[in-house]
Amino acid sequence: MNIQSSESVLIVDFGSQVTQLIARRVREAGVYSEIAPFNAAEEAFARMNPTGIILSGSPASVLDDGGPRIPDVILESGRPILGICYGQQSLMHQLGGEVTGGDGGEFGRAFIEIEDECALFNGLWNLGETHQVWMSHGDKVTSLAPGFRPVASSPGAPYAVIANDEKRIYAMQFHPEVVHTPDGGKLLKNFVRHVCGMSGDWTMAEFRKTKVEEIRAQVGDNRVICGLSGGVDSAVAAVLIHEAIGDQLTCVFVDHGLMRMGEAEQVVSLFRGHYHIPLVHVDASTLFLKGLEGVTDPEAKRKFIGKTFIDVFEDEAKKIGGAQFLAQGTLYPDVIESVSFTGGPSVTIKSHHNVGGLPERMDMKLVEPLRELFKDEVRALGRELGLPDVFVGRHPFPGPGLAIRIPGEVSRDRCDILRKADAVYLEEIRNAGLYDAIWQAFAVLLPVKTVGVMGDSRTYDNVCGLRAVTSTDGMTADIYPFDAAFLSRVATRIINEVKGINRVVYDYTSKPPGTIEWE
Ligand code: XMP
Repeated sequence: MNIQSSESVLIVDFGSQVTQLIARRVREAGVYSEIAPFNAAEEAFARMNPTGIILSGSPASVLDDGGPRIPDVILESGRPILGICYGQQSLMHQLGGEVTGGDGGEFGRAFIEIEDECALFNGLWNLGETHQVWMSHGDKVTSLAPGFRPVASSPGAPYAVIANDEKRIYAMQFHPEVVHTPDGGKLLKNFVRHVCGMSGDWTMAEFRKTKVEEIRAQVGDNRVICGLSGGVDSAVAAVLIHEAIGDQLTCVFVDHGLMRMGEAEQVVSLFRGHYHIPLVHVDASTLFLKGLEGVTDPEAKRKFIGKTFIDVFEDEAKKIGGAQFLAQGTLYPDVIESVSFTGGPSVTIKSHHNVGGLPERMDMKLVEPLRELFKDEVRALGRELGLPDVFVGRHPFPGPGLAIRIPGEVSRDRCDILRKADAVYLEEIRNAGLYDAIWQAFAVLLPVKTVGVMGDSRTYDNVCGLRAVTSTDGMTADIYPFDAAFLSRVATRIINEVKGINRVVYDYTSKPPGTIEWE
């Protein structure tokens, strides 16, 4: 069952890698949307009764035998339709126009010229102007179907944007959903608001309501367990699920002893104290730290921590007993979803998460209410659910925790030293008002000792590395350019306040060539 607002958009997915971005832009325009693979679009159309339809791009060609098609029921529905890239080509192919392949497409930045007025350009683009868009096509439309007129062109695509005002069908060769089409979000907004006439009053509060209903319908009277990692995603998922099914949810927090200062306590007090969510807090730090003795290889650390996490979680889940569902805070970037045009939907999941592999091993069904959201949207939902700002806005923290910030052997003592240095560093960053301008900032404890002099004595102690980067997705990153006075204040405080550290260095490496974490 799906609960939705009375206004909605059905996005028909032909297998483009960026279909989720269309959904995101539609959400940003204040409209509820659902994505359906092309081969399930007819059923989704009947169920949703959408106000408008958007057709995605595709790696396929309409000229191929068996290339994906728009269901006739959609073409004949009389609803407004927007075709993007392959969506445009399939519209022309099926409605009596012509698509040609072969002679060099356009890939990357392109400029289109506005040749006529169009409802999509309302308040945005004017006759004779030139605008940047992002193209990625081999085939192109070479003849229009009856009733269509060209409204913009590029050197490689004479029909870059086309319109059929009577039928309210519009289509474009370029991708408005990607950031490289700077006005793309506004074009999509014009489609949903101006062409489809939707009011755009859908918000995160609506999303919350919809998901609560969906979770109730999915779970019924069954029980759900949710692994809390201490991070934002699993916390938001847990609070949302608790709102839906109350104490049918039990959270399990496997504390591996590799968290930052005060973090484990914060999770426990927030969940037990504030939200009254049933929480099993397992202090497994001895098990983890014992197992990490003598382990220095970064991947061996990750493997051991991942496996042990699953072992402990599984044991606790058995003790709770009777749960059929496992909840996870999986986000869209963790899920690369695509539809192949021969075989229907296929899903690949990155194995970055601590709980990766759990569902198969425990033979449980998954509840993943955040699957279609991006990180900043999860933060907005967290705020909507009343999670404190300091929690919701927290920098990302890797599953293996401090173990991959202590190159070489990990021990409880070394974790304690690092936790103190990291806390001083983060406190100074917050005091300077810089926390939100930084993607991730953390201290690293190096496996090197150097000589120093404090008072009149010689010291021989550990080196602490400081890292701070800006990034939008963690895939690439730039160093944060602190001023010298800030860095010297942090260094002085760490050396004075943290026993075991007598030297502080700043990491000046971007990603690539470095990674964000040191291991
Ligand atoms: P790197 O170091 O690869 O990090 O540049 C990119 C982002 O991923 C996080 N990271 C991890 N997260 N388990 C996780 O859950 C891991 O093993 C892991 N390794 C890196 C890192 O903190 C950064 O945000």
